[in-house]
Amino acid sequence: MEVIIASSPRQAGSIGADLVEAQLARNPASAIGLATGSSPQPMYRELIARCAAGRLSFAQTRAFLLDEYVGLPDDHPESYRRFIERELTSQIDLPSSALAGPDGSTRDLDTAGSRYEQLLEEAGGIDLQILGIGRNGHIGFNEPTSSLMSRTRLKMLADTTRRDNARFFGGDLDLVPRHTITQGIATILDARHVVLIATGSAKAEPIRLMVEGPLTAMVPASALQLHPHATIILDEESAADLATAAYHRETYAQKPAGRDSS
Ligand code: GLP
Repeated sequence: MEVIIASSPRQAGSIGADLVEAQLARNPASAIGLATGSSPQPMYRELIARCAAGRLSFAQTRAFLLDEYVGLPDDHPESYRRFIERELTSQIDLPSSALAGPDGSTRDLDTAGSRYEQLLEEAGGIDLQILGIGRNGHIGFNEPTSSLMSRTRLKMLADTTRRDNARFFGGDLDLVPRHTITQGIATILDARHVVLIATGSAKAEPIRLMVEGPLTAMVPASALQLHPHATIILDEESAADLATAAYHRETYAQKPAGRDSS
């Protein structure tokens, strides 16, 4: 994996936006996987600004959500579809019909995962998948002990995750859904390029475990060690516990222009 240590969350967002811009320059009809959470927000703001400036266009792009809560009404402001519409897609030129996500309001939860897998397959797979990381090392909503071979499916949230996400529900834990439909770890690994953004000191420990720890279902993000093209964009705080930080800084500083490393 390539680890890039930015000087601030804003710079991390700008580096992430560069990768999306380069992907769309290669193929304007790319399939982009979108993550919720606060970590990608500076990148989304940068993409909105670049789109407004005419520097890039999502007019031919298709976008796919990483995960979705189960049981929230479609128009609930904290559904992940609404979050992404509010924070990104309504502010760029992506057609609203080009955004898809797991169906969290379905009655048929048994097949919701495989139906989403089929949609991803029909789209030709994800070209660039944006990810965040949970404090417990989750990616998407694949909580610790998730199968490293998992596909999109129903998952129950860990208590720590529900507590972390209660801030979006007015701090009321009872309002946070217990279940989600999330891309599985193997589904995420199928993306041709994964870009994980983590900022802030709360992410220092899961980032250390993901980058330098063993491959283990206890840290679902460690599965990215298996990916041939994973870019991890950090700020100083989330990189603080890395024993290999100096190596990553030097590698990035000496990276030949235009060369992508992993
Ligand atoms: C949620 C999402 C994850 C995200 C995580 C971290 O649990 N399902 O995709 O990575 O939150 O969010 P934040 O970036 O706000 O810390």
